Amino acid sequence: MPDPILPGRIGLYASMLHYGLTGYRDFAREHAGFFEAMRADEGPFADRHVLDVGCGKSYWLSLLLAADGAHVVGVDTELVDAQRGAAKYARILRVNGAERALRTAAWDVLFANGYYRELERCIGHALPHEKVTLKVYDGSHFPLPDASVDLVVSHEVFEHIADVPAVLADVARVLRPGGRIYIYIHNFTSLSGGHHIAWKHPDKRPSRKVPPWDHLRERRFVDIPSWLNSLREHDYRAMFEHWFEIDEWRATEEEGRALLTADIRRELAQFSERELLTKGFLVRGKLRSVQQVSKAAIA
Ligand SMILES: C[S@@+](CC[C@H](N)C(=O)[O-])C[C@H]1O[C@@H](n2cnc3c(N)ncnc32)[C@H](O)[C@@H]1O
Repeated sequence: MPDPILPGRIGLYASMLHYGLTGYRDFAREHAGFFEAMRADEGPFADRHVLDVGCGKSYWLSLLLAADGAHVVGVDTELVDAQRGAAKYARILRVNGAERALRTAAWDVLFANGYYRELERCIGHALPHEKVTLKVYDGSHFPLPDASVDLVVSHEVFEHIADVPAVLADVARVLRPGGRIYIYIHNFTSLSGGHHIAWKHPDKRPSRKVPPWDHLRERRFVDIPSWLNSLREHDYRAMFEHWFEIDEWRATEEEGRALLTADIRRELAQFSERELLTKGFLVRGKLRSVQQVSKAAIA
């Protein structure tokens, strides 16, 4: 990733543009890989009702699930729409503001076609855009009836959610008894978890300008693409355990070990080594029964 050469938002957008232009095929391959792993863990998905929380403007996880035969609803706080054109950007402008409208337009015009082509090449068939239901929502109450979903999935969204307990309560509401979750969270305390564009690939392309873990230290470089809640792994764990029986809490790849010097380790002593080096965690689990949830609330 190039270090930002211009200051502020302009520098951030220039770096994001470069990142998109050089990386969109890699995003598609990574996404196909994530889906393959999810299918091995939770699939097959044919005829299952799935909610994709924070599906994003490319709604790739919704598309891959639909291609596998699932009935999918993708929701996001940003207006997400398979159609392109002026009317869509005018609606995003109204609902989410100018910055979001510009970012989505840039994605659609510059990267979307190439990205979807690569994703289709990875999976070996066309993507069923027409089979996915996309909805914008208020960020806490899903536009779905109670007990109507078999599986809730989410990829790199929970670190952006302001009220995680409220969203988890609504995940529990829409899941049928015994329904499952498969949620991947980008870990805030990791090197890339600060979401600085210069630290997208800490081991392959470390930044020469932004100090490692700047977001936990001096915070000299604060321009990042989106808001973060700064929650730590143990915070999430308590919140998820309230509603779900956790089958697996999987720490995914490690990053940045070579950059964790003795001086930085001392400076960040309040964080464990695991917190600093784990890029993200995958949460797999099953909805607890009402009795289990109320017992836990009393205890
Ligand atoms: C980093 S993007 C990830 C998008 C997609 N899941 C992906 O992997 O490409 C984070 C997304 O979360 C959405 N988001 C933020 N807060 C949310 C909330 N409370 N509920 C649902 N989505 C939210 C943002 O609009 C954005 O599309």
